[in-house]
Amino acid sequence: MTGPIGIGQLGAGFIGQVHSLSYRLAAMARHRVPAGIRLVSLADTDAALRREVADRYGWETVTDDWRSIVDDPDVRLFVNAGPNALHGAPSIAAARNGKHVLCEKPLARTADEAFDTYRRVETTGVLHQCAFMYRFIPAIRHAHELIAAGELGEVLHFRSRFLMSFALDQGLPMSWRLDKAAAGAGALGDLGSHHIDLARFLVAEPVAVAAHAQTFIHDRPGGRVSNDDSFAAIARLANGATASFEASRVAGGHGLSSRIEIDGTRGSLLFDLERLNELSVSLAGAQGFRTFLVTAPEHPWADFLFPVGVQGQHPIGWEVCFAHQAQTMLRAIDSGERLPDTAPTFRDGYRVAEVVDSIDRAAGSGSWEPVTYREVDRQA
Ligand SMILES: NC(=O)c1ccc[n+]([C@@H]2O[C@H](COP(=O)([O-])OP(=O)(O)OC[C@H]3O[C@@H](n4cnc5c(N)ncnc54)[C@H](O)[C@@H]3O)[C@@H](O)[C@H]2O)c1
Repeated sequence: MTGPIGIGQLGAGFIGQVHSLSYRLAAMARHRVPAGIRLVSLADTDAALRREVADRYGWETVTDDWRSIVDDPDVRLFVNAGPNALHGAPSIAAARNGKHVLCEKPLARTADEAFDTYRRVETTGVLHQCAFMYRFIPAIRHAHELIAAGELGEVLHFRSRFLMSFALDQGLPMSWRLDKAAAGAGALGDLGSHHIDLARFLVAEPVAVAAHAQTFIHDRPGGRVSNDDSFAAIARLANGATASFEASRVAGGHGLSSRIEIDGTRGSLLFDLERLNELSVSLAGAQGFRTFLVTAPEHPWADFLFPVGVQGQHPIGWEVCFAHQAQTMLRAIDSGERLPDTAPTFRDGYRVAEVVDSIDRAAGSGSWEPVTYREVDRQA
């Protein structure tokens, strides 16, 4: 198929808006995809929202039914920015119709569902990406190169924490995110999955985990919370390293903190998402630098692209990493080549889901739980 790459998207919510922008940014990048793009169709059940988002980003058509997008011959790439319960069926349907698929994380609510989604999409032969967008942050990519080049020596420790505070608000109504049947794990799947993927990407696969998970606020206006507000886990990685993961949506004081630290025998590195936007100031007479952030609500451009609130205070520039992600997919489609090995696929989405399930089991059993991985049988 020639001409601009047609994109169809499910979801006009928070991340659907980020994806809409990311494809526009990717198409406007200096090294843009020669074929160009078309934002063909946007599906969301919220009529006012889909109209507003379509007008803002230039989607050609809107619909309340994602099925019309996965059947649309003008759509070559299906972007799944819907809630977790809608990641599987629409992604599988799109792939079966020959559409390439980019799906939000977590790939599914459970490891079984993630494996089924991965297997069914993989066997169609389309390109697939799971949106672990941290891999598209330049500092993370540089860390990957340093570790791969042996600059840190043998890696012994991976340490991470992903902290937010949006669920501390007692008035926060019940929503799909707080419901295990709709979302799967809570902070573990929503926030922890990003860092689990980073441990896999930068160091090695987890092979055993022990964990504690907790819900602090059980009752919300409109229902009862059924997944974790926070978790902490330790893991053994396949290379022998120790990893620790912590995430919370009830960490007062943290709009959105996401930090990883890696220690090797010859060196250490740390990445802090907040430092993507730091302002370091050293005034005359000061002993060294002081660091200020420019993403707090009182700063003039804090809500320039996205609202500040439940979704935290995302640093400026974060959306560009989605454009890196988008362009990776568009380039592969345009050139007919494979996605680069650094791009996270549904296989990564599935493997993270196995770790999430094992941590969930470990938190329940109080014992170490193995993490075992299945492979797709392409003959089946
Ligand atoms: N990669 C990241 O950093 C990141 C950040 C935030 C969210 N996410 C992921 O993105 C996904 C969506 O999260 P969000 O924060 O945008 O949620 P959201 O609730 O803001 O948006 C979901 C949208 O889906 C729409 N929707 C629900 N059911 C639908 C249906 N049957 N058909 C069409 N539209 C439907 C809703 O109306 C809503 O607009 C989740 O899987 C979440 O984990 C990823």
